[in-house]
Amino acid sequence: MARHDPHSYADLTQGRIAHIDLRIEADFDAHLLNIEADYQLVEPVNGSLFLDAAGIDLARAVANGRTLQWEFDQQDELLGERLHLKGLNGVSSFTLAFNTSREARALQWLPGVQTAGGVHPFLYSQCQAIHARSVFPCQDTPSVRFTFSAEVEVPKALTAVMAAEQVRVRERGANKVFQFKMPQPIPSYLFAIGAGNLVFRELGPRTGVYAEPELVEAAAWEFAENEAKIVEAEKLLGPYLWGRYDLLILPPSFPYGGMENPRLTFLTPTAILGNRGQTTLITHELAHAWTGNLVTNATWEDFWLNEGWTTYAETRITEVLEGIEFADLTAMYDEQRLFEVMERIGMDSILTRLKVPSEGLDPDSATTIIPYYKGCFFLKECEYAVGRERFDAFIHKYTGKYQFQSLTTEAFLDFLERELPEVFEKVNVQEWVYEPGLTDKRRKPQSALYDEVQSVLSVYRQGTRPARGQVADWRRYQILSFLQALPKQIPAEDCKYFEEILDLEGKNDAGHYSYFYTTCITSGYQDILPRVEEFIDRVGRMLYLLPIFRAMIAADWAKPHARRILEAVRERQHTITSMLSTNCSKKPGCKPIPIQNGTSLRIP
Ligand code: BES
Ligand code: ZN
Repeated sequence: MARHDPHSYADLTQGRIAHIDLRIEADFDAHLLNIEADYQLVEPVNGSLFLDAAGIDLARAVANGRTLQWEFDQQDELLGERLHLKGLNGVSSFTLAFNTSREARALQWLPGVQTAGGVHPFLYSQCQAIHARSVFPCQDTPSVRFTFSAEVEVPKALTAVMAAEQVRVRERGANKVFQFKMPQPIPSYLFAIGAGNLVFRELGPRTGVYAEPELVEAAAWEFAENEAKIVEAEKLLGPYLWGRYDLLILPPSFPYGGMENPRLTFLTPTAILGNRGQTTLITHELAHAWTGNLVTNATWEDFWLNEGWTTYAETRITEVLEGIEFADLTAMYDEQRLFEVMERIGMDSILTRLKVPSEGLDPDSATTIIPYYKGCFFLKECEYAVGRERFDAFIHKYTGKYQFQSLTTEAFLDFLERELPEVFEKVNVQEWVYEPGLTDKRRKPQSALYDEVQSVLSVYRQGTRPARGQVADWRRYQILSFLQALPKQIPAEDCKYFEEILDLEGKNDAGHYSYFYTTCITSGYQDILPRVEEFIDRVGRMLYLLPIFRAMIAADWAKPHARRILEAVRERQHTITSMLSTNCSKKPGCKPIPIQNGTSLRIP
């Protein structure tokens, strides 16, 4: 059998899925989707077809009016089950009828109390990296693309959304049926569905936001500049080929900042700050419309092609929209984060390579920010080697030539060498891509705004606390840089003092508090615990949560609390978060997964 992707059972020599028509009924009592799906293949298939599945309860498989033989004939903790469809004789379409399981890793079913409105339930999916298989059997590898259409039936009080174009809505008894189509071919990890008490607010001709009524005003103000972002992104990356760009504001348990589902970015509510301070997150998810969604990593080993390119594009667009001083400041901050993570997991860990040999690794627990920032810094070096003008022409060619295709690292490097051979003369591409760590032979970012923060910190290290006036005008990334670089252990009095002069409470920014609570914990400021618990209870974004847990596990006084808190909040966290934050053996259907040194935690 020919496996093309270490994270999928698919054997692409058998055939490929081209299109799926789904009829989906959301059962909010049973917490499952009841689905009937018609699959069309690129060409007729003879013999077997292997699909990825995870917890799928398959009732029926039919092709040309004839029942198909099938079996779940392989099983793996990481990959799920292999659905083996048998005896396909020149078949180019088939139908499967099935239910998802209550433990489907991609699906989060929330009771009303966990939403902003407090009344209606909420459902959302998160398929990246390998969770689409828990929603429908598929070739769950980013190197297979398919179009789809879907009908989603939900109770009348709810609105269903998908990362697709909405075609129409009609009533059926006590329910509503929403119809969608996705005419552009997508990889399975970009399949996305949501349902809740949602309203829509238009922001611009191509942009809008779906949110619960309680949040929609604030969201519409926060993201009012999205249209201008698309215009800027198009200059750098080429025409936007997905039609609309809307946002879906999720309940706080969402484990990510954002997820670039095509046409409909899924977003954490913690991005609504009231000051447009986190719109670089939108820039990032929007840039994925090209780097990731249009040109896609072929496997999760090539993840840096998605995230490194997107982070690079994000910095370029941000430079235009926010100015070079801001872009330089964030580059310094990002570089520090990169060092921090590399030091934590070890400079020679395989996770510090851009191309990560990840067979047998869970892509979720192997995810770090390394492919983001090391990838971005590598692409910047490529830009410096040939100059911005030529690099920009290269970007256009790249997104044009490979649109709606998937690419391995090697195919990308071949293209780079053909188009910009000087890059290979000036930059040690081999080292950047295949070696661990971060080379010293690169142009280092510099920033006056960052230096200002560092000089305040160096005075503080010598014993003098900054005055309020020195920090009063600081920008968000200056505050983040300050909190990032504070000594690990400071007097509790100083924690209180910094919270006050930086006005953390007034700004109510979960990004600040993630650092702040981490410092409080390592500093032994025990009175902070109830507030930390409240934060963990409220915020699901892993980027913010995991550092706090790491600090708790490392501090003797806090360690017993870490376990207790994790147990207490587990039911409220996303499955992905709870899998990463413990070995999770008590959750039904959720087995311990091999935990690597990346994002994940293990409580000793
Ligand atoms: N595509 C990622 C989120 C993701 C990564 C989901 C890996 C599943 C597996 C998204 O674009 C992203 O990178 N989100 C970041 C924010 C970004 C600005 C660094 C996040 O969620 O923190
Ligand atoms: Zn991303």
